Amino acid sequence: MQVLHAPEQLAPYFGCALVPTMGALHAGHGALMRRMSGRGMPVLATVFVNPTQFAPREDFAKYPRTLADDVKLAEECGADAVFAPTAETIYPFGLDAARAEAAAWPLPDVAHQPRLEDASRPTHFGGVCQVVARLFDLTQPAMAVFGEKDFQQLRVLEDMAAMARAANGRWGSLVIEAAPTVREHDGLAMSSRNRYLQPEQRDRALALVRALQHAAAATDPPSAERIMRTTLEAHGLTVDYAVVRHASTLLPVTSWHAPTRALIAARIGDVRLIDNMSMPIRAGLGEPGGQG
Ligand code: PAF
Repeated sequence: MQVLHAPEQLAPYFGCALVPTMGALHAGHGALMRRMSGRGMPVLATVFVNPTQFAPREDFAKYPRTLADDVKLAEECGADAVFAPTAETIYPFGLDAARAEAAAWPLPDVAHQPRLEDASRPTHFGGVCQVVARLFDLTQPAMAVFGEKDFQQLRVLEDMAAMARAANGRWGSLVIEAAPTVREHDGLAMSSRNRYLQPEQRDRALALVRALQHAAAATDPPSAERIMRTTLEAHGLTVDYAVVRHASTLLPVTSWHAPTRALIAARIGDVRLIDNMSMPIRAGLGEPGGQG
């Protein structure tokens, strides 16, 4: 297993399957690497805690840095190399210039219209797009995989890649692949933040997946939203959002007729957790595929 730090070392990995991460790797990241192995291209995992996607009040300094363990897990899960660049490699003009660039990043609609993560973290997706674009430029992957756990991020990056392709063919035929959320045995979505939960909070965190399961059985999206909020609040969680949205635009919906996704962000103490789930499509009367 090679650990690369310099861009000059990347040429043998051009055309790779890229697994971008911020480290603190867990089995969910491992699943992304396993998913990419055996595709006839090298698997390159990146580990870089990106300062420009953290707001000043967020936990950039506290974010766990566990490179030795990350490299071990990446190797066990089929990665061929780990690229762990320095901030100077990613942002050669310094952090202030990088933050200014991130703030002006041309974002797709799905990064600022839905009022989901974008509402509470208005500078977040500028930083995410910036660093992922930089990683794509440096590593020239054939494909890149992102987890559905960060569903809005996934949709933003899919649209960013499509915009770049349409504008000037940047990143050629790069394929963005979505990977399903990996869950613990009891359904809790795997997240680097789960390590901050006390055992009693860990139990209450199951309200997220339970709320999403209840939502899938609701008669319509507004009822699903009420059920999710009630479930979360009954377990003492503070709800940031608990909504049903169009699965592609992430804009509000009032029926189950289109592909939809239920999405939650909620806090337990200081820990903010997110989760989401695809909702079943139900054709209504007069709808294509319906009974009337
Ligand atoms: O999802 C993450 O870990 C990060 O947002 C990403 C995509 C690696 C960019 O820093």
